[in-house]
Parts: sequence; structure tokens; C-alpha cells
Amino acid sequence: EETHNIRASLLCWYQKNQRVVPWRITSPNTSQEKEEVEAKDQYQLAQRAYEVWVSEMMLQQTRVATVIEYYKRWMEKWPTIHHLAAASQEEVNHMWAGLGYYRRARFLLEGAKMVVGGQSQSQGAQFLFPTTVSALCKVPGVGQYTAGAIASIAFNQAVPVVDGNVVRVLARLKAISANPKDATTIKSFWKLAGQLVDLHCPGDFNQALMELGATICTPSTPSCSTCPISGQCRAFSLCRTNTSVCVTDYPTKVPK
Ligand code: ADE
Repeated sequence: EETHNIRASLLCWYQKNQRVVPWRITSPNTSQEKEEVEAKDQYQLAQRAYEVWVSEMMLQQTRVATVIEYYKRWMEKWPTIHHLAAASQEEVNHMWAGLGYYRRARFLLEGAKMVVGGQSQSQGAQFLFPTTVSALCKVPGVGQYTAGAIASIAFNQAVPVVDGNVVRVLARLKAISANPKDATTIKSFWKLAGQLVDLHCPGDFNQALMELGATICTPSTPSCSTCPISGQCRAFSLCRTNTSVCVTDYPTKVPK
């Protein structure tokens, strides 16, 4: 029941407040649009996976506002994973210039070559992007986070995505004071996120959590008064009944 309320409030907030970015398809509103989305063939799903993969790799260490222009230029130059697989590392690095952490640029080219190359003979011109979290994790540079993002956003699978923003939101929502850097605690955040994820709209739900963390549930000045899930938030409730508790006490700060 509580989980149900959290999902509904968060999804509703996201529908109205999500940022307009080029790697998101706006949620279908009419039933005709919904049918079009459901009728996507495997080729279109794989194309969607490519778009989500590129955007999530860019978003890993870079702000949304910066990523937008890079993403647009990238997709103009390499509209499909086949175009990317045929590029040189020099071209890819040139396109990446300014984003930093060039390892990500190497991973994207390596990954594209692997995904396209591994299947070209047996399946002709067709290619299939890996579709499960475990298969996705075999692509160079794709870890649990990126795999979860692709599986949920592109393939509509009810799997969790946990990044720094999500850890902060969940730590506050459930008033979790365990050390967020601990392997055991991180595991428990993934488990919790997996229980919370909306079964019908996992991609929107995961992005809503990340977006809430980026815009409302911020590290030092959260705006609880406009938060769609403050009514379900244990940290918020605790700090209203106990003046020595503050929402920003969560997640627990640990010395580096
Ligand atoms: N941060 C990283 N990926 C994101 C996404 N898909 N939506 C919102 N914030 C993000």
C-alpha cells in the first residue's frame, strides 16, 4: 500500500515535471500512441537501447545540461550502433572532447564493435542488443547501473537503477542511517530499489527517482515542501517530530 502510493505520487510528479531532453521519448498520451509503443519491433527496441546506452554513459560523470548538446551531435554523426562500430577511436575521442573521463568513449566504441560484430554473420544485417541485465553487463563499460537503465528504460523490464541520487532519496525515504559506502548497505539499496520499482513503468519510475534526487531531494537544500513523496518520507516525518533530526542527516556522511 505504501509502495503503491510512492509509485503513484512519483510517476505523477515525473509526468508533469520531467526535464525535456533529447534521449527521452515523451510518454504516450493517446491510446494510439500507446499501441505504437507496444508494437515496437526488435529493431526499434535495439535502437532505443543504443540511445539509452549512449545517454547514460554520457550522464555518468556529466551534468544533464552539458550532455544535451553532446548527445545531439553524437546521434547526428552515428545515428545507429552500426555507424558507431565503424568509427575510429580518434573520431570518437574528438566527439567526446570536453566531457572528460575518456574511458567512457573507449568503452562506447569497444561495446559497439562487440554488439555489432558478435552477430553479423549468423543474423545478417540484423543485430540484437543484449536484453537482460546479465547479458548487458558483458558489454565493455556497462555495469549494474547502465544495464539497469537500458533494461528498464529501453526494454521496460522491472529492474532497479541505483546511482548517487537514488541512494540519497532512498536513504531519506526509509531513514537509513547505515554507512552508504558499505558494500552491504549498497546491496540493500539495490534490493530496496528493486522492491520499489513500478512494474508497469519501470523506466519512468527509475528516471523519476534520479530526477527527484537531482532537482528536489538535493544533498544540502532539499525542497521537501514541493516533494511529491514527502508524505511517505521517514526522514521528513522524523525531523518534524524530533527537532534534533534533519532530512539532510541522511544518507549518513562518512569521512573520505
Ligand atoms: N541521471 C542519469 N541518467 C538519468 C536519467 N535517465 N534521468 C534522470 N537523471 C539521470
